[in-house]
Amino acid sequence: MLAYIWAEDLTGGIGVDGHLPWHLAADLKRFKEKTMNHPMIMGRKTFESLPGILPGRKHIVLTHSTLNISDPNVKVVHSKEELDEWLATQDKNQLNVIIGGVTLFKMYRDQVDILYQTIVKENFQTDTQMPVINYADFEKIEDQQFDDSNLKYEFITYKRK
Ligand SMILES: NC(=O)c1ccc[n+]([C@@H]2O[C@H](COP(=O)([O-])OP(=O)(O)OC[C@H]3O[C@@H](n4cnc5c(N)ncnc54)[C@H](OP(=O)(O)O)[C@@H]3O)[C@@H](O)[C@H]2O)c1
Repeated sequence: MLAYIWAEDLTGGIGVDGHLPWHLAADLKRFKEKTMNHPMIMGRKTFESLPGILPGRKHIVLTHSTLNISDPNVKVVHSKEELDEWLATQDKNQLNVIIGGVTLFKMYRDQVDILYQTIVKENFQTDTQMPVINYADFEKIEDQQFDDSNLKYEFITYKRK
């Protein structure tokens, strides 16, 4: 099973200068809850945007380069084919969570089973845009709206119909 998790602003922006455009503690908490104990699949730039190797989760990193990382919780793959081969070795009930960025979010959008979306309800300066998702293929199973910290935001979960 595949899930996507991401946060976007009102224009679909997800990143700027290699990092998140906002700091939203509640979203980081949700990210941790949804990814803990699940393999996380990501592009090399998203990997480099993390504060380090996150505990309790295997990191599957897509890159054309050789990343010299010896941590047993990091697996490097060099093509979609290699990533698909790794996914095929996974238990069908195992949730693998794609955490970005754009290439990965485009790559599996016709296959992904679950979407964990956060909408941060402001317009930020961004240089990275969430690809179009066909929401008609999904059923909304959770929708929580928040108006605390200094931001309004929404947590939505979709399941493929
Ligand atoms: N708001 C959110 O939820 C969220 C989530 C994720 C990321 N972000 C933000 O988005 C930005 C980073 O995302 P991004 O979309 O720019 O980059 P990315 O998708 O994380 O990484 C792109 C890199 O992935 C590798 N790659 C992609 N396709 C490949 C393929 N078919 N074969 C081999 N390698 C491949 C390449 O690495 P090499 O160049 O090493 O070959 C490519 O440069 C940051 O600002 C980050 O903070 C935000």
